Amino acid sequence: MEKKVTKIGVLTSGGDSPGMNAAIRAVVRTGIYHGMEVYGIMRGYSGMVENEIVRMESKSVANIIQRGGTILKTSRCKEFFTPEGRKTAYENLKKHGINGLIIIGGDGSFRGAQIFSNEFDIPCIGLPGTIDKDIAGTDFTIGFDTAVNTAVEAIDKIRDTADAHDRLFIIEVMGRDAGYIALHSGIATGAENILIPERKTIIDDIIKALEEKERRHKLVNLIVVAEGEEFGGADEVAKVIKKRLPQQEVRVCILGHIQRGGSPSCMDRLIASRMGYHAVECLMENRHNVFVGIVNNKMNYTPLNEAVKKKQRISEEWMTVVKILSS
Ligand code: F6P
Repeated sequence: MEKKVTKIGVLTSGGDSPGMNAAIRAVVRTGIYHGMEVYGIMRGYSGMVENEIVRMESKSVANIIQRGGTILKTSRCKEFFTPEGRKTAYENLKKHGINGLIIIGGDGSFRGAQIFSNEFDIPCIGLPGTIDKDIAGTDFTIGFDTAVNTAVEAIDKIRDTADAHDRLFIIEVMGRDAGYIALHSGIATGAENILIPERKTIIDDIIKALEEKERRHKLVNLIVVAEGEEFGGADEVAKVIKKRLPQQEVRVCILGHIQRGGSPSCMDRLIASRMGYHAVECLMENRHNVFVGIVNNKMNYTPLNEAVKKKQRISEEWMTVVKILSS
């Protein structure tokens, strides 16, 4: 029989994302509601290895639902990916009597949780906290909606300048391995082209389309590029285009980390609250070693062992929409 979870540790790991605080708040308050003790683990897995673990009360999470970043801080902890690091982490959890863990982070953080939960008798629940939306088994990740809206607001502003000067702008958004921010922000701002890591960048097609638009005197063009796109991002794409079309006035804008910060959108606060609540329920109902997602507006639980093998795919339908609407 599974042991009852009475003391939960919660941590945020990997890149921060807006809504992580709302998720922490939901975990702390749901845990306390059910009579559990809740501990905040600082700086992701590093706090587990270094025993930086603090007791949390309901008031520890007051006034944070609207704040970006994470009150628990975050890191990418190399030590946790060694057997010695994980053993030390386990011993530190035991010192506090922690017998359940909730990990808010992206796919790298889930990989850590999967290994740890296979090695030790502490059940782990993942919450998808990443702006990249690159985790299969959920329609939403905490932070994506805010990040993509930040990108849309910035690209709309750039379009004003592009329009005033008849320029081609190449705008880089985040996404080392995933093109969702580029895809959604590009479609929402009417970008002429969207380049993502999941698809080959066919530069000849881009040049052909730009030449054709020049003939039609359509001189305002926006190309949205994910940082992990085949050529290596906006600067690299711009070099090739300038060489092939020297008459084009090309400007590059890299949006960078402004996409990671800021007050979470209503949507991110809602999904973080809902997922955080269900993460604690999972621990109580012995639904262990899963990550909590939302699919078709219903809770969806994917075993961590499966989650680490899958990636969120981008459908051909989206690519067709981009092509037709930007012509
Ligand atoms: O994981 C989210 C993400 O924003 C990626 O899209 C990006 O490549 C990466 O984080 C950058 O992270 P950092 O600057 O923290 O190393």
